[in-house]
Amino acid sequence: MAEINIAVHDRLVIGTEVFVPLLTEDVIQKRVKELGKQISEDYAGKAPVFIGVLNGAFLFLADLIKNVNADCEVDFFKLSSYGDEKISSGKVKLLKELNCDVNGRDIIIVEDIVDSGLSIKFIEELISPQNPASMRVASLLVKPNSLRYNVKIDYIGFEIPSKYVIGYGLDNAQKYRNLRSIYVLSE
Ligand code: IMP
Repeated sequence: MAEINIAVHDRLVIGTEVFVPLLTEDVIQKRVKELGKQISEDYAGKAPVFIGVLNGAFLFLADLIKNVNADCEVDFFKLSSYGDEKISSGKVKLLKELNCDVNGRDIIIVEDIVDSGLSIKFIEELISPQNPASMRVASLLVKPNSLRYNVKIDYIGFEIPSKYVIGYGLDNAQKYRNLRSIYVLSE
């Protein structure tokens, strides 16, 4: 297996595929700080519950809440829609339920990436019947040209092209989540 340097690569060769840098660690961290500041202002005096979508969102959620100046709680859903493939199966499986009571709470769903929007729609439909006080969505990345479902993303880190990306929580067959920058599959 190729040796992976977690910091920086000009190009990453994985089997027959080549990934090139899209967003560096500095650029990501600067944007996450801005999102944290915005959320701190929007939720001043409130105690939001951040609900991360595993596995991909774990790094973004960790960095985001370190920049949120509010009393907050954290919980996780675990979903699977891609398996080890690069194309969504079109079906979402719930692999881990929430443990907290969201009734009457201000909820912020935290995703690594919104592609078709199916996962977000699935989660919103799970949470809505539990009557949260409010529900918003934060996603580090959005592929606007891939959106197929009517979902509103309230906090967007970056809009990116509809190409496969890895790093900073995002995987290629479960690997490369520990890369600090984000890389995109080149043509
Ligand atoms: P959606 O349900 O089609 O919006 O897809 C969202 C989920 O698919 C994300 O939470 C990721 O797990 C996965 N995903 C979508 N695009 C990518 C990608 O480019 N790289 C890695 N995972 C992705």
